[in-house]
Amino acid sequence: LFAGATDFLKGVVAMDGLPAPDRIEVCFAGRSNVGKSSLINALTGRVKLARASNTPGRTQEINFFTTTGGPYLVDLPGYGYANAPVQIVAKWQRLLKNYLSGRQNLRRAFVLVDSRHGVKKVDEEIMALLDKSAVTFQVVMTKADKVKEKDREKVLEQVRKALSKHPAAYPELVLTSSEKGDGIETLRAIIAGLD
Ligand code: GTP
Ligand code: MG
Repeated sequence: LFAGATDFLKGVVAMDGLPAPDRIEVCFAGRSNVGKSSLINALTGRVKLARASNTPGRTQEINFFTTTGGPYLVDLPGYGYANAPVQIVAKWQRLLKNYLSGRQNLRRAFVLVDSRHGVKKVDEEIMALLDKSAVTFQVVMTKADKVKEKDREKVLEQVRKALSKHPAAYPELVLTSSEKGDGIETLRAIIAGLD
């Protein structure tokens, strides 16, 4: 699925630009800078496929990546970036909402949560939107390399508690580090197993 021919297909700024839903897809949602683009790069083994950056709000389009005979991987614009202009935020939110509620071939949303910070209010909002849209979502903890073992459990507990309130949540968390490769194979297997 992820070997060889994963490729960037297109960036979409409006609903009418979405590729035909001729295969299933999974999307990656999360706060700005949480590590969505880095995770897609780690999954595909292509360092520069999705543009990762230190500048929050870098990914402003819905970016579609193809996999070999498998689903589209969809990199969503990050939310919760405080310094983004109001009009831009409103536009993203509308697009995000329309995409999440209207995409029939979307099989699962991965909601990325920083292993140091846990679930924030903006994450809760996205989760509520996913509940409403009846899109099953699974939380992927990112940047696991940045937390000490002893601090990890507390954050995970907070996340599990938050998830228990969301009917569309898939209970199993995936712990990842795009930097070190932790959990990447697990996530690949989860994606490969969707149909
Ligand atoms: P937006 O597109 O702005 O929404 O951000 P994003 O969620 O795509 O984040 P991106 O992948 O660009 O990563 C943001 C920053 O976090 C970059 O500097 C990455 O190098 C860093 N980063 C991402 N994943 C990891 C990780 O697993 N470990 C560590 N240590 N840093 C990471
Ligand atoms: Mg990005």
